[in-house]
Amino acid sequence: MNGKELNKNYFNIFSKNLISWHKKNGRHDLPWQININPYKIWISEIMLQQTQVQTVIPFYNKFIEKYKNIEDLSNAKLDDILELWSGLGYYRRAANIYKSSQILKNQYSCIFPKKYNDILSLPGVGRSTAGAILSLAFNEKYPILDGNVKRIIKRYFALRGLNNSENNLWKISELLLPSRKNNIYSQSIMDLGFLVCIKKKPLCNICPVKLCCRSNKLKLTDLIPEKIHKKNKKNIIKLFFLVIQNNKNKNLVLMKKNSQKSIWSNLWNFPNFSKKKEYTEFINENNFSKKVFLYCKIKSKLTHLTYDIDVLKVHSKKEINIDHYYWKNIYDKIGSPRPVIIIIKKLLEEINNANNNV
Ligand code: ADE
Repeated sequence: MNGKELNKNYFNIFSKNLISWHKKNGRHDLPWQININPYKIWISEIMLQQTQVQTVIPFYNKFIEKYKNIEDLSNAKLDDILELWSGLGYYRRAANIYKSSQILKNQYSCIFPKKYNDILSLPGVGRSTAGAILSLAFNEKYPILDGNVKRIIKRYFALRGLNNSENNLWKISELLLPSRKNNIYSQSIMDLGFLVCIKKKPLCNICPVKLCCRSNKLKLTDLIPEKIHKKNKKNIIKLFFLVIQNNKNKNLVLMKKNSQKSIWSNLWNFPNFSKKKEYTEFINENNFSKKVFLYCKIKSKLTHLTYDIDVLKVHSKKEINIDHYYWKNIYDKIGSPRPVIIIIKKLLEEINNANNNV
């Protein structure tokens, strides 16, 4: 993009058209838009960092129901927050919310700060999240740059090659800001990305900024944003070991809390192994070898890797003691990663069916 193309009009028209489009066409009833306050916007923005709106909504509602304000949250334990986060993924976000709650209590007397640098210094808050909080909650003039906004800017200005640098995109996002109604503007650009300027087959005919969109004019919307060749995700094979002890309907399973440094840190998991040697030792030491059977297979996708999980099951007659492991009731509310939730759900269904058939 050269100087001429950076026509001021392109910038002014953009926010003006988006703001008027939003009134009739944007989203107005998302749960964090009702009785807006900075606390709700912060929690929702953290949840929305890696997760889609429809997935976030039930988790957000449960969270706000339990922790109505910063004070409530600052009295929570990390385990309680992880339990609520269970199934939402990217659990570091929950740990960051916990750490932030302590900072908000100790340094800000449970009043959410209003200054950009204070907000940016909270764990888990990057430049775009800080911009979203300041614009949506405080109507301040700050840019955002999430995936949707990047795609819109790239298309609107038909950016290719080196023009796609983060630096350039931030500059443009800032230049696009209106002088007023920054709360509506931020929501409207996110809504445009979700509803109209979608990744595949954007709905250019109903776009409020189609007349100035260079990709639309040049018929480049299929080619912009340019495709980035992603590396193949590393695939890891894992064994989960479901040891169940259900004499007298106790329904206990053997579990271990992940260490702080591991993936799924601080979450409860079944005994799990990557190496055959470790697994063999575990079943031999506990005399499980003859009774083990394959219960199910699960695929789990994380950001940089995928897990292929074979879940093995064995019934244990007694509550044997194994170092670092605990017997948990399957009805207990604990924070666990998604594959564990899926397995426990399956177990619960089987138990319910068995009880109904008696
Ligand atoms: N993604 C990130 N923030 C959002 C918001 N406030 N509304 C909808 N989608 C979002």
